[in-house]
This record gives sequence, structure tokens and C-alpha cells, in this order.
Amino acid sequence: MSKIAVVVGSLRAESFNRKLADALIRLPAAQGHDFTFADIGSLPLYDQDDDGDQADSVKALKTLIAGSDGVMFVTPEYNRSMPGVLKNAIDHASRPYGQSAWAGKPAGVIGVSVGAIGTALAQQHLRNVLAYLDMPTLGAPEAFLQWKDGLLNEDGTVGAQSADFLGGWMAGFLSYVAIHS
Ligand code: FNR
Repeated sequence: MSKIAVVVGSLRAESFNRKLADALIRLPAAQGHDFTFADIGSLPLYDQDDDGDQADSVKALKTLIAGSDGVMFVTPEYNRSMPGVLKNAIDHASRPYGQSAWAGKPAGVIGVSVGAIGTALAQQHLRNVLAYLDMPTLGAPEAFLQWKDGLLNEDGTVGAQSADFLGGWMAGFLSYVAIHS
């Protein structure tokens, strides 16, 4: 059983990525594992002057990450990169210098967008950041998803056409976490 922190890069109430994350953790491959969603919406804007006195929301994020075996990033693409709210969360939990919560935590990156390239460029930017943070990150399978009818069922579970692919992604991610945590 692995403890996984889930970081969704959208704060939107009807976020497709939040719905995707909710569906992913309901896949058969995810059962028996413990998934906790990080609250990144209540974080202040990062200000290095606050490194010595981090907000309670920042401490809570760092505690969640530190207590997790791995991190699942589920993010949209904004202007061909990751959303600012996600980068803000990453920067917060990477500080103070030398006390990053991310270091060594295995990661998986996935996301869905309305565009045809399905967050590919956001994921590549995020991978660059995770490499710097010393987070071993699942390389394959990659998952670039476009939001379409049928991706998820009415009840929020993964649709039949994507179940095998996303089940394989989840199984690969959890195996990777077991090996690298
Ligand atoms: C977008 N969107 C978008 N889509 C994409 O495929 N590539 C992109 O570069 C962008 N850029 C972008 C910038 C901004 C500021 C917004 C608000 C949106 C569209 C995006 O895929 C769509 O809004 C998704 O619904 C966002 O994900 P959530 O919030 O539904 O999880």
C-alpha cells in the first residue's frame, strides 16, 4: 500500500483535471492505496521573505508531501506551460533552501486539456522542474488526454474506451513509486 499525494493544477470548481484525478483513484489498479488531495488553493503567493515563517497552509502542504510515498500531478496546460497555481505550490514546498519536501519523492505526471496535444507541453515543463527538485518521474507510459465525451462516465469513473490505457498508467505509476520510494 502506497500513500500518494495528489496535486491538481486547477482550482476551477468544475475542473476536468480534478474530475480526471477523482476517476483515476477509483480505477481498479488504484484500490488498496491511499490518495490524499493537496490543498494548493489556499496557499499565499510565494514570497521568499516568508521562508523563515511559512504559512500554516504551506506547512500543511509540506507535511502531506513529506508523509507520502509518491506524488501524482494532474494538471491542465495554460499557455503551453503549467498553471501558475501549480508552480506556486511547487515553489512553496521546495523552501527554505535545503528543506524541500519534494526531494526524492517519486512522481507521476498526467493531465487533460481541451486542446489536441493534451497537456504535452505543460507536462514537459513540469518534468524539467521535477528533475531539478530531484523527483524521479515516471517516463512511460506517457498520458496526454483530450477532454471528450466518454472519457469519463456519468458517474465520474473512467470510460470504457480509456479504462485499459489509464489502468495501465496507474499500475505503472504505483509500481514506479514502490520501486523508488
Ligand atoms: C487554457 N487552455 C489551454 N489548453 C491547451 O491545451 N493548451 C494551452 O496552452 C491552454 N492555455 C490556456 C490558458 C488559460 C489561462 C486557460 C484558462 C485555459 C484551455 C484548458 O485546456 C481548459 O481551460 C481546461 O478546461 C483547463 O483545465 P481544467 O481547469 O478544466 O482542469
